[in-house]
Amino acid sequence: MWLMIALILGAPVAEQVDPTKAVITLKPPWVSVFQEENVTLLCEGPHQPGDTATQWFLNGTAIKTLAPRYSINSATFDDSGEYKCQTGLSMLSDPVQLEIHSDWLLLQVTSRVFTEGDPLALRCHAWKNMPVYKMLFYKDGKPFRFSNQNSEFTILQTNLSHNGIYHCSGERRRRYTSAGVSITIKELFPAPVLRTSFSSPHQEGNLVNLSCETKLPSEKPGQQLYFSFYVGNKTLISRTTSSEYQTFIAKKEDCRLYWCEAATGDGNLIKRSPELELPVLGLQSTTPVWFHFLFYLAVGIISESYLPRGRARDPVSKSRTGDLYLHR
Ligand SMILES: *[C@@H]1O[C@H](CO)[C@@H](O)[C@H](O)[C@H]1NC(C)=O
Ligand SMILES: *[C@@H]1O[C@H](CO)[C@@H](O)[C@H](O)[C@H]1NC(C)=O
Ligand SMILES: *[C@@H]1O[C@H](CO)[C@@H](O)[C@H](O)[C@H]1NC(C)=O
Ligand SMILES: *[C@@H]1O[C@H](CO)[C@@H](O)[C@H](O)[C@H]1NC(C)=O
Ligand SMILES: *[C@@H]1O[C@H](CO)[C@@H](O)[C@H](O)[C@H]1NC(C)=O
Repeated sequence: MWLMIALILGAPVAEQVDPTKAVITLKPPWVSVFQEENVTLLCEGPHQPGDTATQWFLNGTAIKTLAPRYSINSATFDDSGEYKCQTGLSMLSDPVQLEIHSDWLLLQVTSRVFTEGDPLALRCHAWKNMPVYKMLFYKDGKPFRFSNQNSEFTILQTNLSHNGIYHCSGERRRRYTSAGVSITIKELFPAPVLRTSFSSPHQEGNLVNLSCETKLPSEKPGQQLYFSFYVGNKTLISRTTSSEYQTFIAKKEDCRLYWCEAATGDGNLIKRSPELELPVLGLQSTTPVWFHFLFYLAVGIISESYLPRGRARDPVSKSRTGDLYLHR
């Protein structure tokens, strides 16, 4: 089932993450600007030495320029739309949606779609760079940050809770409010689930295979996940590239709650599995120690009196006693 999902989802995604794709960067970095402002689009991608010819597309139509940088001087509404580029040896880039606005206040963002863990920069920008004070940044209508003068703010590591509609407001004689910008944060990989190789219960001292299962990141090419395994608060193994780990079932006195973590290479994104309790034979006992002592004493007396001398100490009857204890 898992494999099937991976195959179905994997095929189109593999094309999407081709490392030969060209990449567009904006200078300044904002995907929305005011009319009359300047913005430069840069296209980077593999090409033959000396051949920097670049194809630019706006709304799917080729633009008459072959330079790797496309400069928009004094933007007009006609400059808004979906930009793509391609270098000599690259595939077509992902689109960049540039918006040209006319307003008093504009909430600028570096992108409208992010993968969790990416930084998100926001800027509350006033028409003609006029000074604005007492700025408030809002998410879904609720203010979450106040700034008297600094109009920029960066969420260093986005997570799924940052999905929403953002806007800002600021004062200059009266209070101005920007339009809303919808921000989407995509999950890089789901939180892992820890599974064991065979069904419970386990015998103390046996080997057990633990598997930290998640779906590999599809958004970022060449991204590798690192796995850590824990029992209770003890680390079994830290940051291995294998999602499988083989371990001995813990001693009785140890904690039996196993869990794992999956992390990205840079450690910026770490996700933890729910705890998995491994039921171990002989550990289900909830009765007090004195009860066992009396129980063993009774069994001991019975076997001593019913079995011939010598047999009471042989391994078979010992393990019978063990069974009684285990299945009590
Ligand atoms: C845009 O660039 C031109 C020349 O490159 C410059 O004169 C102008 O001031 C710039 N506009 C803005 C809003 O920065
Ligand atoms: C590109 O499409 C957007 C809407 O999708 C439109 O606002 C813009 O004017 C178009 N640009 C050109 C140059 O056709
Ligand atoms: C998301 O990030 C914010 C900080 O920016 C943090 O307070 C919050 O706990 C995080 N949420 C999750 C689900 O990780
Ligand atoms: C556990 O993993 C080892 C090595 O990866 C393998 O040889 C063994 O068959 C596995 N055991 C079970 C019960 O899956
Ligand atoms: C780990 O757990 C054990 C028992 O649950 C406890 O005694 C110990 O203090 C814990 N260690 C840390 C570092 O939390």
